[in-house]
Amino acid sequence: MKDNYLASRVVGLKPSGIRKFFDIVATMKDVISLGIGEPDFVTPEPIVEAGIRSLKGGYTHYTSNSGLFELREALADHINDRYGVAYDPRSEIIVTVGVSEALYLAMTALLNPGDEVIVPTPCFVSYQAEVILAGGVAVELPTCVEDNFLVRAETLEAAVTPKTKAILIGYPNNPTGAVATHEMMMEVARIAEKYDLVVISDELYDQLVYGVPHVCFPSLPGMKERTILLGGFSKNYAMTGWRAGFAAGPAEMIQGLVRVHQYTIMSAPTMSQMAALEAIKNGQPYVEEMRAEYDRRRKLIVGGLNQLGLPTFEPHGAFYAFPQVAVSGMSDEVFAQMLLEEEKVAVVPGNSFGAGGDGFVRCSYATAYEKIEEALHRMDRFMRRHG
Ligand SMILES: Cc1ncc(COP(=O)(O)O)c(C=O)c1O
Repeated sequence: MKDNYLASRVVGLKPSGIRKFFDIVATMKDVISLGIGEPDFVTPEPIVEAGIRSLKGGYTHYTSNSGLFELREALADHINDRYGVAYDPRSEIIVTVGVSEALYLAMTALLNPGDEVIVPTPCFVSYQAEVILAGGVAVELPTCVEDNFLVRAETLEAAVTPKTKAILIGYPNNPTGAVATHEMMMEVARIAEKYDLVVISDELYDQLVYGVPHVCFPSLPGMKERTILLGGFSKNYAMTGWRAGFAAGPAEMIQGLVRVHQYTIMSAPTMSQMAALEAIKNGQPYVEEMRAEYDRRRKLIVGGLNQLGLPTFEPHGAFYAFPQVAVSGMSDEVFAQMLLEEEKVAVVPGNSFGAGGDGFVRCSYATAYEKIEEALHRMDRFMRRHG
């Protein structure tokens, strides 16, 4: 028997720092978790009802590989209404099993072995892993709090090599809460054009912005042709468990994704597609309601963390605060571990999200207001001992 049957690209994947941490949390009692990366709200009732109705109505079969046509049409209208980008629902949109699958499809469809993808960090934990799984090379580009965690044009341009195929950006950002400015997006667009690169833009949190606009990357001049836009339902509509998302882009690229999808997934779950259709058509008031509550919690947590001496950049999107923990004299990992052991508050070490996250921890405010108040109280006690 061989020592290891696993492919080297799988053996080479680092276990997710978040998982490791939450395995410990799961064994403890009375923990307040600011670690969760999903809405605490349950899916709004009419969306749930649409899913149930579809099952009871006999929609228990596969859909077209690309997804229910009605949903693709609704998505095309939705993107066009919000951002003025026109996608053809027949060939330029695919419905996927969340943005997770869309990322996998994009990487698998685009990358030849050794192709490089520039990945600004800190970022969603799957980005680098997906590049590696598809045989590509993830070129990490750390961003910093001094730049509001935005991509700096000079460093991006310096990272481009003859092997660079794509840039993978995610704004509003998980874990920092940063929202890209128009100026930053224009610089990324300029560099993508200059070096003929594909841009994969993960805009899963597009509707969760507070007082600033979301810039939809493919809406920039000339960018639709070279962008794969990823989006979905998990965060905006509190639908993580339904596993529905989409990718939109030029037909040639999207049909490449469809080819991989048809041999791996076939079609996204039908009931989830029906629920997603309801979300797109009638979900807006619920999004507004949840966003208002996130904003209330955002103000509480950002103000609270700063007050207890942990410098916290003001996040304008998603539902994460990203305080710097150096004043405690601890690394982000030690800080998270000690805070959990001593005060039973779970946060995620920033380095789980790449080198750009070193020295920070991610605190999700997708948890009840009162729990955030109690977590801040416990953290205050912790900082009095360790500040
Ligand atoms: C930036 C980002 N992209 C993608 C995902 C995965 O989302 P989905 O549930 O649509 O697969 C997440 C989940 O946390 C995320 O934060």
